Amino acid sequence: MRGFPDGFLWGVSTSAFQIEGATREGGRGVSVWDTFCATPGKIHTGENADVACDHYHRYAEDIALMSELGVGGYRFSVAWPRVQPSGSGPVNAEGLGFYDSLVDALCEAGIRPVVTLYHWDTPQDLEDAGGWLSRDTAYRFAEYAAIVGERLADRVEHWIPLNEPVVETLYGYALGEYAPGKALLFDAMPAAHFQNLAHGLAVSALRSVNAKSIGSANNHSPIWPATQSAADLEAAEHLGAVANWMYTDPMLLGRYPEQVIQYLPDDFADDLTAIAAPLDFYGVNYYEPQGCAAPGEGNPLPFELRAIEGYPLTTNGSPVVPDGLREFLGQLRTRYEDKLPPIYITESGCSFDGVHDKERIQYLQDHLAALGQALDEGSDVRGYFVWSLLDNFEWSKGYQPRFGLVHVDYCTLARTPKDSFYWYRDLLGGAR
Ligand code: FCB
Repeated sequence: MRGFPDGFLWGVSTSAFQIEGATREGGRGVSVWDTFCATPGKIHTGENADVACDHYHRYAEDIALMSELGVGGYRFSVAWPRVQPSGSGPVNAEGLGFYDSLVDALCEAGIRPVVTLYHWDTPQDLEDAGGWLSRDTAYRFAEYAAIVGERLADRVEHWIPLNEPVVETLYGYALGEYAPGKALLFDAMPAAHFQNLAHGLAVSALRSVNAKSIGSANNHSPIWPATQSAADLEAAEHLGAVANWMYTDPMLLGRYPEQVIQYLPDDFADDLTAIAAPLDFYGVNYYEPQGCAAPGEGNPLPFELRAIEGYPLTTNGSPVVPDGLREFLGQLRTRYEDKLPPIYITESGCSFDGVHDKERIQYLQDHLAALGQALDEGSDVRGYFVWSLLDNFEWSKGYQPRFGLVHVDYCTLARTPKDSFYWYRDLLGGAR
C-alpha cells in the first residue's frame, strides 16, 4: 500500500448513543433516541441503547483496546443530554465530568481526543420545543458548545460540531426512519439550514474558548445518474445539491446551491456569514455512492433514488465501492479549489459478521488504496478514522449490523478483537 504522509492521524470513531449505555445514570436527560427506541415498531429488532456497549462504565477497558491497536486519535461524541439534560440552562456536573475523565484517560494513553459535540441525541425537551425545525435550537447548541469547549479545549485539539446533518434531516425529519421520526419530506429542509447555522455558531463559540482545530463530519456520496440522459443528469444534480452541496457550499463558500433555495426558510440569507465561519479541516464520512434517475410518471419529487448494482454488499446492504471515496475527494477539489481546508476521513467502515472478518480487512485495504490514489491526485488528507472501534447500536437497525474492529457480546459485554483489529494494528505499527 502507498505510504501516507508523516503525522497522518490514524484513528477509530464512535458515538455516544451507540456505545455508552447508562442512559438513566449520572443525571443524563432523555434524548430523542431514547424516546424513539421506546416507541413500538421504530427499531426493527425492538432493541434500545439502555446498555449498548456499556462504554460509560467500561471506557478504561476500551481505551486499553485502543492502546493495543496503536491509534493516534479517537473520535467520540459528547451526549448533549448528559451535559445539559434539557438542552439549555444548568450544566450537569457529573455528565461533563465523565467526558473530562475520558479525555484525561485518552491523553494519558497518548491518544488524541477528537470531539464531536452532537451525534443526533438531541435532548427531548428541545425537540418538544421544535427541535431542528426551530432556529432557537441553533442558539442553544452554540451555548452548549461553549460549555464543553471551555472545559475540554485545553486538552482537545480537534473539534467537530455536528455529525452528518444530512442524515438527521433526511432520515429523522424527512422520512421518519430515525429519531425524531418526522416524515415531512421536503418540509424537513429547514432542519438542514438550522443545523448548518448551529455548526457556524458553534465554530465561533469554540473559537472564543480557544479551540485549536475546528472542522466538520458530513456524510458524502458521489451521485451516480442511471444514464447520461439530460433528465437523469439533471435529477442527479438536484440530488447532489440536496445530499452533498447543501452542507459544504454554505460552510465553505457562504452560499447555497441554487436547487435548494426553494426549500429554505425565508430569512436564510441572514445566516450565511455565521455558517461560513472559517474551518481548519473538513471531515468526510464516506460509505457508498448513491444511484439516481429522473422521476418516473406521477413522482412529484425532483429525482428518484436507484440502488447501485454490480458490487458486493455488506450485511447492512451497502454496496462496497472503494473508488467512490477517491471520486468524491476529486469532486471536493474541483468544486472548492483553494477554499477547501485539509480533509480528515472522519468515518469509513462496514458491517460484516464474525471475528474472522476477512471482508472487513479487504474493505479497509481497498478504501485505503483509493485514499492513497486521491492523495496522489492532489487531495490533502490528514487522517482516517475507522467506523467503528466496537460493534454497537446501529440506530433503527438495532444491534444486527456489526461495524466494529472489536466484537461485542451483547449478553456478557465481552470485547473480542477481530482479525481486522490485528490487521489495522499491524498497519499502524508499520506507519509509526
Ligand atoms: C454513519 C453514522 C454512524 C454509523 C455509521 C454506520 O452515517 O454517522 O453513527 O451509524 O453511519
